[in-house]
Amino acid sequence: MWTSRHQILAPVVLSSGKGCELYDIDGRGYLHLSSGIAVNAFGHGDPDWLQALTHQANTHTHVSNIYCSVELAKRLVASSLADHVFFTNSGMEANESAIKLASKFQRSLHPSEKHPPEEWYIQCHKGVFGGIAHSLDSAGVLLVLDEVQCGLSRAGYLWAHDAYDIYPYMMILARPLAGGLPNGAVLTPDRVAGSINFGDHGSTFSSNSLVCSAAIAVLDKISKPRFLASVVKKGKYFKELLVKKLGGNPHAKEVRGLGLIIGIERDVSASPLLDACQQSGLLILTAGKGNVVRLALPLVNIRAGTRHCF
Ligand SMILES: Cc1ncc(COP(=O)(O)O)c(C=O)c1O
Repeated sequence: MWTSRHQILAPVVLSSGKGCELYDIDGRGYLHLSSGIAVNAFGHGDPDWLQALTHQANTHTHVSNIYCSVELAKRLVASSLADHVFFTNSGMEANESAIKLASKFQRSLHPSEKHPPEEWYIQCHKGVFGGIAHSLDSAGVLLVLDEVQCGLSRAGYLWAHDAYDIYPYMMILARPLAGGLPNGAVLTPDRVAGSINFGDHGSTFSSNSLVCSAAIAVLDKISKPRFLASVVKKGKYFKELLVKKLGGNPHAKEVRGLGLIIGIERDVSASPLLDACQQSGLLILTAGKGNVVRLALPLVNIRAGTRHCF
C-alpha cells in the first residue's frame, strides 16, 4: 500500500491513540515516533489542547478569515521578529503565500524591472547555513525560512533558526502549529506586508476559530523555557542511545538532528526498516533519497515507552 513517496507499508488500521501510543483495531499498540509527520507535538489527547478545543467548539468554530484570530497573531508576533501574520491551512499554502508576498515586495522595490523576481530554494547543512544566510542578506536577497517541520520547538528552540543565530525576512510555519489540526502561517515584517493590499490574498478556512484556539494552547505550552529545555534533553538522550545501539551496524552512517527531529543516514534504502519497525510496534518515517530514517518524536515524555524498543 502506498502511503507517501518513499513509504510502502503493510496496512495498519488505527482505531485510537493516547499520548505517544496508537492502537489498531486488533488492540495492538504502536509508538508513534513520527508524530503524524511532525504534527502531533503532544501525542494524542493532550488534556490542555482538548480543553481549548472543547471550549472553542462550544463558542464558535468558524467565522472565516474576515475575522482573524487576533490573539494567535499577537502571540506569534510577540515571540518572533515579525510584525504581521498571514494564516493558511497547510505548509504548502504557506509556502505559496510567502512566494506571492516576496514577489510583490520585490516588484514594489523595482517596479520598472522587465524580468520577474527569481526564486531559489536552498537546502544546506548546519556548517554553511549561517554563512549563506548572512551573505544573502547583505546581497539584498529576501531570505524566507521554511520552519514547517523544524520550527515550533521541535529543534529544541522555539524557532529552529535561533540555533544558527540568523534572522529571516519571512518565516513559514505549519505542522505542529495547531497540534493535529490543519494550520499554517507566514510571518513577515512591516516592510514586506506593506506590499500587499486588502483583497490581494485570501483563504476562507485559514484563521478558523477552532484551529486557532488549538494553536494558542500549543504555543502556550511549547514556548515555555522549561519545555524547550526538556526537548533538548530528550533529543540528546535519544541521539546518544541511537549512536550506542547502532555502533556495530555497518549500514548506519550518521545519526544527526537537532532536538527531537533525528535522522539516521544509511548507505542502503531505509524502506525495509520501516516495515520491520512497524512489525515491532514502532511507527517511523524516511527522508532524503529514501536512505534516511526520520524520527519526529512527540515532544512530550516518551522515554518510558521507548526504553524497551531499542
Ligand atoms: C519543509 C516542508 N515545508 C512544507 C511542506 C508542505 O507542508 P504541508 O504538507 O503541510 O502542505 C513540507 C511537506 O513535506 C515540508 O517538508
